Amino acid sequence: MDTLKRVSYISKFAKPLSKEDIEKIAEISQKNNSRDKLTGVLFTYKNIFYQIIEGPERNLDKRLNIIFNDNRHKDIFVLKVEKNIEKRKFSEWSMKTVILDESQDYLIQPLTDMLNTITDSWILLEKYVSDVILKTIQKGENPLDYKPQFKDKIILFGDIFASTTFTEILNTNQVYDLFEIFFEITIDTINKYGGNVSKLLGDGFLGSFSQDYLNNALNAVIEISKQLKTLRNSYPENHPYHYLYAGFGMSKGKILEGNIGSKNKKDYTYIGHPVNLAAKIQAITRKTNYFLIFDESLLDQKIFYEFKKIGKYVTKNQVEIQLFTLNHNELKSNLNYNNLIQKIKQLK
Ligand SMILES: Cc1cc2nc3c(=O)[nH]c(=O)nc-3n(C[C@H](O)[C@H](O)[C@H](O)COP(=O)(O)O)c2cc1C
Repeated sequence: MDTLKRVSYISKFAKPLSKEDIEKIAEISQKNNSRDKLTGVLFTYKNIFYQIIEGPERNLDKRLNIIFNDNRHKDIFVLKVEKNIEKRKFSEWSMKTVILDESQDYLIQPLTDMLNTITDSWILLEKYVSDVILKTIQKGENPLDYKPQFKDKIILFGDIFASTTFTEILNTNQVYDLFEIFFEITIDTINKYGGNVSKLLGDGFLGSFSQDYLNNALNAVIEISKQLKTLRNSYPENHPYHYLYAGFGMSKGKILEGNIGSKNKKDYTYIGHPVNLAAKIQAITRKTNYFLIFDESLLDQKIFYEFKKIGKYVTKNQVEIQLFTLNHNELKSNLNYNNLIQKIKQLK
C-alpha cells in the first residue's frame, strides 16, 4: 500500500478571486479528493491560501503537481512535507474550505493576521535563501542534516564588468535595476539548463552543474551572453543597460559541498580548487576577447561546440593551466575594457 504523506503550503491569489471562485475550487477539490482518497483543509484570508493536504503519496504528488501549476495562485511556498505519517489529521474532510474573511469570530482575527505575517516572511526569506536549501526544505528534508560531502561538479562563476564604476556613477535605483536584470537573466537561464546558483556575490554569482551537464552549462553561458547582447542593443547609449557586459569562468572537479559555518550561522557553499580556478579565470575575460574561459578539466567530455586554446594561466603555486573558450559568435567580444569604463563614466 502507498504510504501516507502530508503537505502544508501557503500561496497568494494571482488575481482577485470572488467567493464563487473559491467555492468552485472547493467543489472540484472535494469531488477529486474523495475519489483519490485525499483529505485536508483550505483556508483563505484576504489574498492568501493556506492548504494542508494529505493522502496516499502517489495520489497526493500527482494532484499537487496540478495544484501548483494552477494559475489562480502564485508565490507558492511549501512550509512542511511530512512523509510516512501514521494517521491522517483530517480524515473527515475531503477538503474543508473556510473563507476566514467571513468569520465574525473575533478570535479568528489574530490567527488570520498570523497567517498573513507568515506568508510575507516566507516570501521574503525565499528571496535570500539559496536554491539548494529551498529545494531541500520543499522536499520535506532538513538541510541541517546534510553533512558536507565531496562531489565532482562543474563550477560556473559570472561577474558584471566594471561594476565598481557603475556603483560610483549611477544612483541607487539605477544600480539596483542593473544588478536585478543581470541576476534575473543569469539565474533563470542557469535554472532552465538544470544548474543551480548557490550564491550571489555582490556583482557576481557562484553556480554549479552536475558533472555530466557540461553542454548544458555551456549552453547556459551562450544564452546569457545572447540575452545580455539583446538587452544592450535595446537601450540607447545614455542608458546603463547599454553597457552591461559579463565574464564567465568554468572549471570542473572535486569540491566540498554543504553547510559550512558556525553553530548558529550556516552557509550552503562549495569549496575547492575548481571554485578558486573558475573565479580566477573568469577575471581574465576582461583582458581577452571572449566572455567565457574554461580550463582543461572540461575537456574529458564531448563538447558539442568547437573550442580553442587561448592561452595559459600560472597559479600561485606555479602550476600552468591551459585556457580554452568556445568558438561561438555569442562569446566573442571586441570590447575594450578601458573604453567601457570611460563610457560608463560619461553616464554621469
Ligand atoms: C489553492 C488551491 C487549492 C486547490 N486544491 C485542490 C485540491 O485539494 N484538490 C483538487 O482536485 N484540486 C484542487 N485545486 C484545483 C486544481 O488546481 C485543479 O484546478 C483541479 O484539480 C483540476 O481538476 P480536474 O483534474 O478534475 O480538471 C486547488 C486549486 C487552488 C488554487
